[in-house]
Amino acid sequence: MYLTEKEQRMLNGDEGYAVKKSMEILVALGDIYGAERLIKVGSVQVAGVSYHNLGDAGLEFLNELAKDGRVKVLTTLNPAGMDLENWKNLGISEEFAEKQNMVIEAFEKMGILISCTCTPYLIGNLPRYGEHVAWSESSAVTFANSVIGAKTNREGGPSALAAAFVGKTPCYGLHLDENRAPDIQVQVNARLAKFSDWGALGYSIGKKAENKIPYITGIKDAEVDELKSFCASVVTYGSKPLFYMQDITPSSEKVQPPKDTVTIEDGDIREAYENINDEVSDIELVCIGCPHCSIKEIAEIAELVRDRKISPSTEFWVATSRFAKQLADKRGYTEVIERAGGKFACDTCMAVAPLKGRFKSVATTSAKGCYYSRHNKMLTKMGSLEECVEAAVTGKWS
Ligand code: F3S
Repeated sequence: MYLTEKEQRMLNGDEGYAVKKSMEILVALGDIYGAERLIKVGSVQVAGVSYHNLGDAGLEFLNELAKDGRVKVLTTLNPAGMDLENWKNLGISEEFAEKQNMVIEAFEKMGILISCTCTPYLIGNLPRYGEHVAWSESSAVTFANSVIGAKTNREGGPSALAAAFVGKTPCYGLHLDENRAPDIQVQVNARLAKFSDWGALGYSIGKKAENKIPYITGIKDAEVDELKSFCASVVTYGSKPLFYMQDITPSSEKVQPPKDTVTIEDGDIREAYENINDEVSDIELVCIGCPHCSIKEIAEIAELVRDRKISPSTEFWVATSRFAKQLADKRGYTEVIERAGGKFACDTCMAVAPLKGRFKSVATTSAKGCYYSRHNKMLTKMGSLEECVEAAVTGKWS
């Protein structure tokens, strides 16, 4: 890969240890994937924040980089393993909290915004159309590429961090227009009746367009929250982190729909539910907010739980960014949800919090949430917000 003189000096260590290490990572990646050069990025989203996933080795790596590493571009963080303020209320141990806080301190020292959300585009890290960024959270990467029209590969935590210290990333993969052409047309004939159907649709398309870029037709309208859920699901279940949706996503008119076509029928959506849902009726955890809830979703939850009580046998979590929670505080939604017995899980989520062994079953609106909950050995139910709230109030899935 060609390096400018300045980049070569960075690689030689002229800008210190973190930049040198970062350049080594970026050059290695560029060489593996055949990048010709580095390109500037407008922002970075760093995943790999939970101590649950990082462990002591990860923490040590971050502390080394934090000694002299300072980010050069706007850099935001993915969810951590706990609510940074309210962790006790969510049953997190002192031991875990201490380590998680050390992780956060390292990121803070690097100059990273402690946003701890997988929806950076809702809290101010919003790239412009066509901008190159280096993001590392699959749902956010898919949203950035498809809904916003920015350009990013699906970075790992270390390569995103490296891009933040250098302000650049190797130019390969989805940074190049020739790699962004759709390879399969997906005609959606199925009716999308409720919110969780978007997760089911993502499952179905992800399976049919495995490792491909789908060009989706047949969808008349989509709200941002629906697209957010779809992005999380479609990439989790198999497709590349980029899709086109005719008349909905900004680049859909600029590319040609491929001839190779598959369809999604009502039966595919039913099958998705059958595969995502387990046989279970007692629900121990209901978690809404994968990806993190927008303020609009929080308002809907507040309306549904108003004057109701969460079952004593169930925990009800609303996972969101601290920024959305602050808006919810101001609008009175927090009070309504907490009065009902619900808990806010800011800064964290059902996949990265240490939940293994704590809950046997979970209900959620999210297909991606179900995927990761199964990794945490939970039985899963996916349904509409109304069905999830009902499960939280009765403790049962009906
Ligand atoms: Fe976000 Fe966690 Fe889901 S990172 S997309 S809430 S698994």
